[in-house]
Amino acid sequence: IRDDPVAAAFYTANYVKRRILEFAPTAEKPFVLGLPTGSSPINIYKYLVEFNKAGELSFEHVVTFNMDEYVGIPRDHPESYHTFMYNHLFKHIDIKPENINILNGNAEELDKECLAYEDKIKSFGGIEMFLGGIGPDGHIAFNEPGSSMKSRTRVKTLAYETVLANARFFGGDVNKVPKLALTVGVGTVMSAREVVIIITGAHKAIALYKCIEEGINHMWTVSSIQMHPSAMIVCDEDSTLEL
Ligand code: GLP
Repeated sequence: IRDDPVAAAFYTANYVKRRILEFAPTAEKPFVLGLPTGSSPINIYKYLVEFNKAGELSFEHVVTFNMDEYVGIPRDHPESYHTFMYNHLFKHIDIKPENINILNGNAEELDKECLAYEDKIKSFGGIEMFLGGIGPDGHIAFNEPGSSMKSRTRVKTLAYETVLANARFFGGDVNKVPKLALTVGVGTVMSAREVVIIITGAHKAIALYKCIEEGINHMWTVSSIQMHPSAMIVCDEDSTLEL
């Protein structure tokens, strides 16, 4: 628990840095990092960019897999997760473009795209660390309430609450928010060797409570991390109001 969102992000960024440095990735054995979008990781990315620019952390041998992407908005749409990731992280660091993996929400066959994504993760020997955030409804990636705990990468209809929560990025207009997304599954996140979740703000307090103080429940998919052998939640004071 850190005092505020910035301190939580600073802790998380340092933790990610430490893990990558300890792993000492090479071209043959890259560090495979799962990444989220949303407002919560923005400061984490800001610090990772700073570490990279200061020469303290290289992404040369880091391979990334993003959690999710909207279906049906162009890749270069200002609110696509592609655009988000390039603007906040990828264009500022020394990562190789071929090491960046983001689901294609405009693929002709979405199911095939999802299966291929899972295969690609497997081809790298799985994900070393999945960094994630949550929605106020306790979703992890876009695994909305009711998602199977064993789910893998697939097409998902967004919950109305998520559409409402994300309308702020689309000029406040719910009609402009895509209703479908591609997302890694709860099972995909759980298969990572380590999971780190950032949760900040009073609006996430109930979700944090459901995540750690109630039972494992597919209506709050982040609670799945109770079963993970190596999971950590980094949160701020405000989000702990219900604990
Ligand atoms: C979206 C993403 C989630 C993310 C959530 C939280 O729904 N699909 O992966 O955790 O936003 O966003 P924020 O950090 O802005 O609250």
